[in-house]
Amino acid sequence: MSTIAIITSGGDAPGMNTAISVIVRTAYSKGWNVVGVEDGYDGLIDGRFVPLTVHQCDDLMREGGTWLRSARSDRFRTPEGMKQAAKNLSGCDALIVIGGNGSLTGANILAEKFGIKVIGIPASIDNDIACTSLCIGVDTALNSIVEACDKISDTARSHRRAFIVEVMGRECGYLAMTSAIACSADAVLFREQGKTEEQLVEELRELIRHSYSAVRNKKRVLIIKAEGVEVSTASLAEQLERTMKEETNGATLRYTILGHVVRGGRPSALDRLIASRLGFAATIAAIEGKSKMMVGWRPYEKGEICIDPRVELFELSYVLEATDRLLDGTHPTTQERLEMIGRVQDVLLL
Ligand code: F6P
Repeated sequence: MSTIAIITSGGDAPGMNTAISVIVRTAYSKGWNVVGVEDGYDGLIDGRFVPLTVHQCDDLMREGGTWLRSARSDRFRTPEGMKQAAKNLSGCDALIVIGGNGSLTGANILAEKFGIKVIGIPASIDNDIACTSLCIGVDTALNSIVEACDKISDTARSHRRAFIVEVMGRECGYLAMTSAIACSADAVLFREQGKTEEQLVEELRELIRHSYSAVRNKKRVLIIKAEGVEVSTASLAEQLERTMKEETNGATLRYTILGHVVRGGRPSALDRLIASRLGFAATIAAIEGKSKMMVGWRPYEKGEICIDPRVELFELSYVLEATDRLLDGTHPTTQERLEMIGRVQDVLLL
């Protein structure tokens, strides 16, 4: 019986369990066996394989986190670690890697250097991977941010307060940009804007002054800040507070860092759908003998057609190179995101 191994690696994302569950069920339906690797690439180096059966997957698809657990492995970065990981895969016919940029880079190394047959599935709340319009976990994270900001808005309104809410996303401002629109925030800050600390402070100061002026008389000011912005949220808040009292007729400012709260929770319906369809397409691709590829959900660029009309396959090396461009700002998707947020920036301020 042929065997697929599954690994979840990097930061966990809601929907990883859905993907695991669908891979197992798809593989068994085609007469393949499935094993899970515990603790990401660390577990692969140590040979920590666990059998995965359809029976185990009964309730898995709606659970948050990753049942196989995850890790950011320093050992896999060493030549010895990589060699050992590849050696431990000798009994497997294919490996499916569910994870973000670093995890897919590891998958590409296993394929290129050691000839392991690998298919990648993009999963990261940051939405910082090219060749997929959404990664697994993004929609749930976005919903968590919106829920938190709605709650914060209640208290902000009750106290005439401005709030800075910092959201995860590493180097990528996607969660900040999209949640700002969904929450009707007054401003959004993200690394890709390339603004200096002085610019940010000055613009926010003006925004707060205008919002609490007698003419505008707002009750709430919500500023969403991506964690990738270099200036710390605490320092930003401190600088703004200094001048607020005199300029805003007593309105005050608080900040909240949502942190890992955004990464947890049961996957949303959309994440379950995306994870199921990517998991299904990835398994079929692995069974068909494809390798060194990633499945992308309704990508902007053109990939190779696969079993699902909404899913396309891309060479992993191309995905990684395009992801670098997504993060350094030269990829058309980043340009599009910036243009889009630029168009609505004035509306956010009203
Ligand atoms: O990549 C997902 C993510 O949650 C980022 O948004 C964040 O910067 C990072 O992981 C946090 O990593 P850790 O959980 O290792 O602190």
